[in-house]
Amino acid sequence: MSSGFKSYKILSIDTSCDETSASVTNGLKILSNIQPSQMKIHSEFGGVVPSLAKLEHKKKIHKVVDRALKQSGTDITQLDAIAVTYGPGLAIALEIGINKAKEIANQITKPLITINHMEGHLLSSFGQRNAINNHLKDNTESKDLLHSYDIKFPNLGILVSGGHSEFILVKDFCEYEKIGETLDDSCGECFDKCARIMGIGYPGGPVISDFAKRNRKNIKIEFFRKNTSLYARVLSINRQTILPEMVLPVPMSNSGDFNLSFSGLKTAFSDLYKKISEKQKINKEIVMSLSNLIEAVAYKQICMKIEKILENYSINEIWLGGGVVASSKFRSTVRAMSRQHNLTLRFPFSKRLTTDNAAMIGIAANFRLNKFGFDGIKHGIYVNSKDFDLIDRDPSLSL
Ligand code: KG4
Ligand code: ZN
Repeated sequence: MSSGFKSYKILSIDTSCDETSASVTNGLKILSNIQPSQMKIHSEFGGVVPSLAKLEHKKKIHKVVDRALKQSGTDITQLDAIAVTYGPGLAIALEIGINKAKEIANQITKPLITINHMEGHLLSSFGQRNAINNHLKDNTESKDLLHSYDIKFPNLGILVSGGHSEFILVKDFCEYEKIGETLDDSCGECFDKCARIMGIGYPGGPVISDFAKRNRKNIKIEFFRKNTSLYARVLSINRQTILPEMVLPVPMSNSGDFNLSFSGLKTAFSDLYKKISEKQKINKEIVMSLSNLIEAVAYKQICMKIEKILENYSINEIWLGGGVVASSKFRSTVRAMSRQHNLTLRFPFSKRLTTDNAAMIGIAANFRLNKFGFDGIKHGIYVNSKDFDLIDRDPSLSL
C-alpha cells in the first residue's frame, strides 16, 4: 500500500461506549482528537450505564465535533469524508454518533465511511502525531513509528479492551480473519470486576496496574502445574513479610484452540479475596500482591495463546490495540515475546489512542479509502449518507 498512499482529510466520530469522541485526521496524521470522558458519571455504578451514556453523548456531540474542527484548524468544507463507528457497541450510544455523522455528510455532500470500532483499535498504531498535537503526550516506548508502508503480511492483531479480547489474522489492510476470542468476558472487564471486589476504583485496569507496579519488586509470581492445569502463586521476596496464600488458575491453559476465557478467573479471584478477608484484614500489601497476581495470570493466558498462534501461522508483525494496551506490563510482556520470535511490534504512540477515540476511526477510514476508493459501498463507503441505516451491535466478524 506504500506507493501512492493517499491522505484524506476526515472528520470522524466514535460514540460506541462512554466516550463522545470526534477527531480530524489528515491521512494518518492526527490533527485533533477530542475525548471527553464520562468516567465520573459511570464510576459510581462500577460500569457503563447505557441510558446515561446516550444522554451524555446527546448533550456533548455537537460541541465535541465543533472542537475537533476548531482545534485542527479545519473548515467543514475542506473535509474529504466523514467517518463513523457503526458497531460493535451500545446501539443507543452508536446511534447518536451515526446521526450526527450522517447529518454532516449530507450537509457537505461528502461520503460517509462506516467503520468497525475494532478495526479502529487494530489500526490505531498507525496514527501519527502532528505538530499541532502538543496535547498528545508521547508514549516514549513507541519509538518504532511507521515511516514506510511496505509491510509484510500476514500479521497478528491483538485487541484487548473492556468489551473485547480477540486475535485477528491480518492478511492485508482491510482483510481480516478472527482466529480467536474470549468465550465469555473480556480481559479489561475482568480487571474492572476484580478492582470492584477489592473496592479500589473504576475503571479497574489502570488502578490494578498502578497497585501492581508499587510492590512488584517485593514479590515474585511463580507458575506451577497441578494435575496438568497451570496455576500462579505469589511469593514474598522479603522473608520478614508473611503473605496469605494467594493462588489463581490460569484459564484455558490446556485448550488446544486460540480462544480465551476470563469469567472463571473473575470467580476464582472473588473466592480468593473472600477466603483471605475471612481470615484477616485486607491491607494495602495484600491488594498490591493480588493486583500483581491477577495481572500476571491474565497476561500469561494471552501469551500462551500468542505462542500457539505463532506456532501455527508465519506472522511478521504484532499489532496491539485496545484499552488494556495502556498497561506497560502488558506491552513489555508482549514485547519480550516478539523479540524472541524476531517480530516487529506496533502499538499506539499515545495512551489516548489505546482507549476509545475517534482518531483511530479516521485512520481506519483512510486505509479503506485507499483500498476501495470512493465507490466501495459494500466496504462501508456511502457516497450518499442517506443510504446507510444499519447499526450492527455485534458484527459477525467483529471487524
Ligand atoms: O478500549 P477501551 O477504552 O474500551 C472498550 O472498547 O472496551 O478499553 C477499556 C478497558 C477497561 O476495561 C480498562 O480497565 C482497561 O481498558 N484499561 C487497562 C488500563 N487502562 C485501561 N487495563 C490494564 N491496564 C491499564 N493501564
Ligand atoms: Zn474500544
